[in-house]
Amino acid sequence: MRHGPQARPRATAARIDGAPDLRLGGSPARRLFAAARDDIAFLKGFLQHPDQVGSVIPSSSFLEQRLVRCAQVASARCVVELGPGTGGTSRAFLDAMRIDATLLAIELSPTFHARISSAIDDARFMAQLGSAEHIAEFLAARRLPAPDAVISGIPFSTMPADVAGRIAQAIAKVLAPGGRFVAYQLRAHVSDYATPYLGPARQQWEMLNIPPVRVFTWTKA
Ligand SMILES: C[S@@+](CC[C@H](N)C(=O)[O-])C[C@H]1O[C@@H](n2cnc3c(N)ncnc32)[C@H](O)[C@@H]1O
Repeated sequence: MRHGPQARPRATAARIDGAPDLRLGGSPARRLFAAARDDIAFLKGFLQHPDQVGSVIPSSSFLEQRLVRCAQVASARCVVELGPGTGGTSRAFLDAMRIDATLLAIELSPTFHARISSAIDDARFMAQLGSAEHIAEFLAARRLPAPDAVISGIPFSTMPADVAGRIAQAIAKVLAPGGRFVAYQLRAHVSDYATPYLGPARQQWEMLNIPPVRVFTWTKA
């Protein structure tokens, strides 16, 4: 779901005891306005670095929910997101996550990183500036356990092949046994990079997204 930057973690407990989820706060108009601001920031990021951002608008709520299901976010203790962008996907993962889970969001763009660091106010959320290549170092520096899920929107098709290969290898290495690697992509390049380390992927399409994307899911043996 597209949420405004006013999302709060503290009402997570309220959701558990059956009370309404008040995290979004504000009126629908305020939320729409916040989502529109995210869309504009995202488009600006794309215009500055089209190959790095790889899409003109953030993921749809349909895609976000498919990612939540494929990665089994609700049961994960540690989730790593690669390429959170303006944070819509991060908020959807936090909404689905346990109250004792952690989301580490690794973002290459300093602008997007600064934006989500100030906009997402949730004790379970950790924003990290840098490349997905360094996922192992980032986890170790924060003493985080092996992730149960790594969810990636970074464009494997436009990055140098050696970088893409190193990222796929690093993900396979850090994932917990039984952990899921979920990648949403327009093209299928990610499959060439990850399959040597994780075996064949399950592939689905999410048509309710602009543009429609493939969602690849690997499970580490
Ligand atoms: C298609 S956008 C996805 C944004 C958001 N998760 C969504 O679905 O709306 C890809 C994001 O990956 C980031 N990115 C690209 N290469 C990266 C890398 N090597 N490490 C971390 N982030 C990267 C981009 O800056 C951009 O924010």
